[in-house]
Formats: sequence, structure tokens, C-alpha cells
Amino acid sequence: MDAKEITLDKLDAKRFIEDEAREIGKAVGSGLAVNALSGGVDSSTVTLLGHMALGGRLKTYFIDNGIMRDGEPQKVAAIFGKLGVKVEVVDARKQFFDALKGITGPEEKREAITQTFYRDVFGRLVRESGAKHLLQGTILTDVDETVAGIKRQHNVFMQLGIDPEKAFGYRILEPLVRLRKPAVREVAKALGLPKEVYARPPFPGPALAARVIGEVTPERVEVVRKATAIVEEELAGSKAFQYMAILHGDRVTGMRGGRREFGLQVEVRCWDSSDARVASPTRLPFEKLEGLAGRITGEVPGVVSVTYNITKKPPSTIEAV
Ligand code: XMP
Repeated sequence: MDAKEITLDKLDAKRFIEDEAREIGKAVGSGLAVNALSGGVDSSTVTLLGHMALGGRLKTYFIDNGIMRDGEPQKVAAIFGKLGVKVEVVDARKQFFDALKGITGPEEKREAITQTFYRDVFGRLVRESGAKHLLQGTILTDVDETVAGIKRQHNVFMQLGIDPEKAFGYRILEPLVRLRKPAVREVAKALGLPKEVYARPPFPGPALAARVIGEVTPERVEVVRKATAIVEEELAGSKAFQYMAILHGDRVTGMRGGRREFGLQVEVRCWDSSDARVASPTRLPFEKLEGLAGRITGEVPGVVSVTYNITKKPPSTIEAV
């Protein structure tokens, strides 16, 4: 695989689409392929490329892992339904929460999600469907950060010397692996994806688990899910690269109704960046920050403290886990 970058200024989106669709067709031959759609720009782009190349021989799944944002499975299935792509929602919530039980280390959490996704959930789907290939939306930044040992991105194998065929029983195709985010958005646009998809802020594969420090339980995910909905609603017009809410692992003393409450802490992050390799905190107006604090402490049960991250990447990373 040639992982040489195709930069935005060198990208001819139409030609890229034709070339990659042809490559997918060649690799899969007369067989079947599967892919997981999360609704993010990378997996959405791969889904449409794959359908161009394979039509009905590509089966697209949305894996409901229990750590997605509010209403996401239904939203994503509806968008793709309109594009004529059938998406099967697979309820794997229990499998993921069982795998995450008792785990607090960031890399261990990422590994538990990776194994549940690729070995357990997709292993079964591939066996049942008879597919030999999995199409996925790994991009160059995912590979760089994993290979550099910064973060184990959930979707990187070959570049770490892991053969997916031996480990999971299927081959992985990565048509976007030479692109970074801005180039993927161009391809998504050229494929005819709607703006709500091609302009969507990035969202990590490990989903809200990347934003829960400490153990990932259904209850703790629910806290971060509610806070995320508020942050996304409030910052939608900010033009920032990405924004998020993070649940901290430790508690702090607060007060509510004149009584002491040893409560939860949520951290808000909002990033200016072009491709996620380096990033700076957005200089949000203080009134906006106060509004966020008011809504999160008022609407998310148990939260008594809201902070705003003012660190650049590096040394921070964009996600907390
Ligand atoms: P970090 O936190 O490493 O994030 O600064 C860089 C960009 O990548 C996204 N991200 C991921 N994307 N799988 C993905 O597909 C992952 O495991 C993953 N972890 C982080 C993150 O949201 C940011 O845009």
C-alpha cells in the first residue's frame, strides 16, 4: 500500500473517486464486502465510494456500541436512506459495555473497543455474510498518530504490523489512507454527500469513550452524552474545527440548594485546527463560556463544575483519552 499523502492542492476529487472505486472493485472481485458507517465524514465517504464500486455487494452496518451521541443511529440511517444506501443498525451495546467494565487506562479502553469492534462484532458479521473484505475510513492522521505511539487509533492495524486477516479473518481496505481531513471533505462533497455530512466536525472512532476519563459505564456515558448535546448546540455556529465535553474521573466539592454536593466535573474543549495535527483552543467569548457552564450544571444531573481547556495541541491532544 502506498501511503504517500495526497495534499488538498494536489487532489483531483473526481479522479480520486474513479481510481479508488476501481481499486475497490478489483480487490473485492466478485465477492462481498462489509463496512461500518458511523456518520462521520470518513466512514460516510467510504460508504458511498464502496457503493459506487460494489453496489449491493457492499453491506453497510451502523454499530450501536452504546457510546454514540444522542439519536445518532437513527439520524445516520435516515441520511443514508435518502441517498439510497440501506444501513443495518446492529445493537452491540451490551458487548461494548461488558468489554469496558472495570477498565480505566486510556490505551486499555481503546484496545477493548478495538477488539470488541473488529474481533467480536465484525468477526461475526463477516462470518454470517460470507464477506472477505472490510472497507474502512482510516485517514493519514490516524496512521501517523498511532505509528508515532501518541494514541492507538481504533482503526489502524497493517501499519502496526498486525495482519487483520490472521487476527480477525478478513482483509481491510482503506481507500482514504493517503488523505487528511480537508481532502476527505472535498471527496465527500464531490460524491454528493450533503453538507451536514461533508462539513461535520470530526468525531473519534471510540466515540464518547474517548471523552470519559476513568471507567466507561452506561451512566457515565449518559452524563457526557447530555453535556455533548449542549456543547454541540451552543458551539454549532463557532466555526471551530471540533468541540466537545469531557467527563473527569475525580469529583469536586460544589453546592446545590444550600447543601454541599461532592459532584462531577465536565471539561469543555473547543479547537481551532486545519487537520488535527496541531490545534489551539478557540478564543470563545466569556459570555458563551458562562452560558455553557450554566446550561451544563443546570441540565446535566450531578455536574457541579465546568472548566474550559486552554492548552494547545501539543502538548494536549484533541480528545482526552
Ligand atoms: P487526538 O485526540 O489524537 O485526535 O489529538 C486527533 C483527531 O482524531 C480524532 N480521533 C480519532 N479518530 N479513531 C478515529 O477515527 C480514533 O481512535 C480517534 N481518536 C481521536 C479526534 O477526534 C481528532 O479529530
